Amino acid sequence: MGECAAARENVNPILPTGVREIIFPGALHQPIEDIMAEFQKLVFSGVQPTGNLHLGNYLGAIRKFVALQKDNDCIYCVVDEHALTAQLVHEDLRGQTRAIAAAYIASGIDPKKHIVFNQSRVMQHAELTWIFNCVARMGWLNRMTQFKEKAGKDRENASVGLFTYPDLMAADILVYRATHVPVGDDQKQHLELTRDIAQKFNNDFSKRIAELGVGVEMAVGEEKVNGYFPLTEPLIEGEATRVMSLRDGSKKMSKSDPSDLSRINLTDDADAIARKIKKAKTDPEPLPSELTGLKDRPEAQNLVGIYAALADTTKEKVIAEFGSRQFSVFKPALADLAVEKLAPIAAEMRRLMADPAHIDAVLRDGGERAGMLAEATMKTVRRIVGLLDD
Ligand code: TYM
Repeated sequence: MGECAAARENVNPILPTGVREIIFPGALHQPIEDIMAEFQKLVFSGVQPTGNLHLGNYLGAIRKFVALQKDNDCIYCVVDEHALTAQLVHEDLRGQTRAIAAAYIASGIDPKKHIVFNQSRVMQHAELTWIFNCVARMGWLNRMTQFKEKAGKDRENASVGLFTYPDLMAADILVYRATHVPVGDDQKQHLELTRDIAQKFNNDFSKRIAELGVGVEMAVGEEKVNGYFPLTEPLIEGEATRVMSLRDGSKKMSKSDPSDLSRINLTDDADAIARKIKKAKTDPEPLPSELTGLKDRPEAQNLVGIYAALADTTKEKVIAEFGSRQFSVFKPALADLAVEKLAPIAAEMRRLMADPAHIDAVLRDGGERAGMLAEATMKTVRRIVGLLDD
């Protein structure tokens, strides 16, 4: 911790050699200059601390976060400021924030080698959001389907924060100039917007970026632009990029669904998991003998996808094993698999949650390291835009 504070005093647009090792100890050991001078591979993602984490969050996102740590430097954030956009007053936002951090660690994320922190500790996210509010166009945000869904019919009454939410999400990613973002399918449109924002910023400030010598030459169609922000790649892969509700195969599994039977929570015990899978909606037919037979059978498709993701295999292989079998055979096998994979995570989450001071220390340490990277970016952004800060 002392080392971090010492390093922070040295922060300038290009962090001094050696700081990278403090920020990602034991990871790739690349000098920090590389991250700032080139678009070096860096993974970022986040989860909102609103409601119970469910199987969709786990399979669509957190499990991928764990896998990506092996070959990349990763920053995983609990996006507590996002939680204020749809609902301002929360019963226990701090507890929920700790619960997501606990879920990250319990699932296998190593907060020492990588970074785990809560968004509000690094104020540069909010600062860059302001700049992006001035980059993004009203028309772009008006097209966001998640805003339309969340605001519903009463748009006049939605918070301004809910409307500009995607700008904060773009800032989360780009304040680290992150190149890869693992998410579920529902975040795709927000990541396209992140690219649009990066591209407009790069285009509008290309000359200034070149003058300051802080950019990377990028081709935009026929033209060459000096870009400061990377065009981030979404990582949306695998068999469970969109896990559906257990009660309705046309609706996504979600934290806000009023029916608890619609989702498997990461903290559900073995009985609850088995009961929910047993009660999951299905059609009366047995599973098809070929993958193509899942078409137009959304509930069956969903359960097969969940099985495939949990077993780290493909839907095709699941159908090869369970094809033509009744749900009365498949559902207990799925329940056993889900309990086998999720019960150890729930137990570890409970253990971690019993020591909130430890979780807070992890988040504080992660916040310090993230803050060094974010401030280095913001110093450069302030210069690019023309804001005096020294
Ligand atoms: P959030 O908190 O709603 O969801 C967290 C992650 O879980 C994925 N997910 C799903 N994947 C598959 N099936 C489902 N039913 C399902 N439901 C949720 C989400 O796609 C997400 O990856 N805006 C984001 C949080 C965020 C963020 C970011 C993500 C804020 N800033 C920067 C990446 C980068 C959100 O509300 O996720």
